[in-house]
Amino acid sequence: MSETTTATDLDALQPAGDHTRALVATGVGGTEVLDVTDMPLPPVANSDLLVRVFASGVNPIEVKTRRGQGMSALVTHPFVLGGEFAGVVVRAPYELCEFQPGDEVWGMLLSPHYQGSQADFVSVPLQSIARKPKSLSMIEAGAVPLAALTAWWAVVEVGRVHTGQRVLIHAGAGGVGHFAVQLAHFYGAEVVTTASERNHEWLRSLGADQVVDYRNERFEEVIEPVDVVIDLIGNVADDTGSRSLKVLLDGGLVINVPTGSWPTMHDEVAAADRDLKATGLKLSPEGRILTTLAQLFDQGDLQVHVDAVYPLAEAAAAHERVESGHTRGKVVLDLRV
Ligand SMILES: NC(=O)c1ccc[n+]([C@@H]2O[C@H](COP(=O)([O-])OP(=O)(O)OC[C@H]3O[C@@H](n4cnc5c(N)ncnc54)[C@H](OP(=O)(O)O)[C@@H]3O)[C@@H](O)[C@H]2O)c1
Repeated sequence: MSETTTATDLDALQPAGDHTRALVATGVGGTEVLDVTDMPLPPVANSDLLVRVFASGVNPIEVKTRRGQGMSALVTHPFVLGGEFAGVVVRAPYELCEFQPGDEVWGMLLSPHYQGSQADFVSVPLQSIARKPKSLSMIEAGAVPLAALTAWWAVVEVGRVHTGQRVLIHAGAGGVGHFAVQLAHFYGAEVVTTASERNHEWLRSLGADQVVDYRNERFEEVIEPVDVVIDLIGNVADDTGSRSLKVLLDGGLVINVPTGSWPTMHDEVAAADRDLKATGLKLSPEGRILTTLAQLFDQGDLQVHVDAVYPLAEAAAAHERVESGHTRGKVVLDLRV
């Protein structure tokens, strides 16, 4: 049991019955389809754990799915929103499981296979959680897993970013971007990123070597060639993806993260005939990576910026904020209220 959760606390954290309060989308549409309602407790089978959620970050995928894009074709309404969370284990699959009731954890749920994280209780597979970093509050920790895992997959697993390279990260001020900037810096690369002017000083403090104001400058005119582009925008704004090819060194790699945002990427890369490599990305919610990320937070090499916190009842305002496309870091739902 954790230092902070006593047996009495733990009793109070158990589900009261076979239902859980949850944020759902009742159909496809605007924020009017969001509702806080009771849903059946998710099935806890095999090595799944039952976790009482304290906080859960809101990511663009939830907004897209609510609007009929993203995972929309794969869900049936009403469905519970949310992918990342921090909370406390209330039920473990067996006595000597490494996570036991009372342990503070963070994790990620892959929709639609698992019910979403913006509920008082989630069922989560053992391999998709890890111990929460001690240095982060529940609110901060709940804002991290999906966005930081995406950044990790882009920078480390797929990008293989390392010392001696120059990396361009589009949308460095966003949820994924601010982790990607820090990870690329941590692994020794020279980091160039794009952001509005108001975010430049902050991004430099996170390790960016050069920040380009994408509203007033053409990045391809002001930066030196790069080895890797981590594209968090695609061609949905100002042909950001296509223009990125102009700054890639021959043999360089472009990673397009928002699925569907740059449909012609492979054709353009082939037409360039410069031995460029191009890939999309789908993150995998692996607890082993969350354990490494927790170490990076606890040793001071990673930080999370929380832009705003909302109670579940104000989820519509949280969605609107993410939908603006200009959050700094993360927006979080507090499920303790
Ligand atoms: N494939 C996957 O598995 C996966 C996983 C996670 C996320 N994604 C996708 O990746 C994308 C980024 O996710 P996120 O959570 O980081 O989004 P986010 O937090 O909503 O991104 C917001 C940021 O985007 C910046 N921005 C907006 N327009 C820009 C432009 N034209 N150029 C540069 N920066 C711009 C804003 O910076 P300023 O305020 O400074 O303008 C803001 O800080 C989303 O489309 C998301 O759905 C995909």
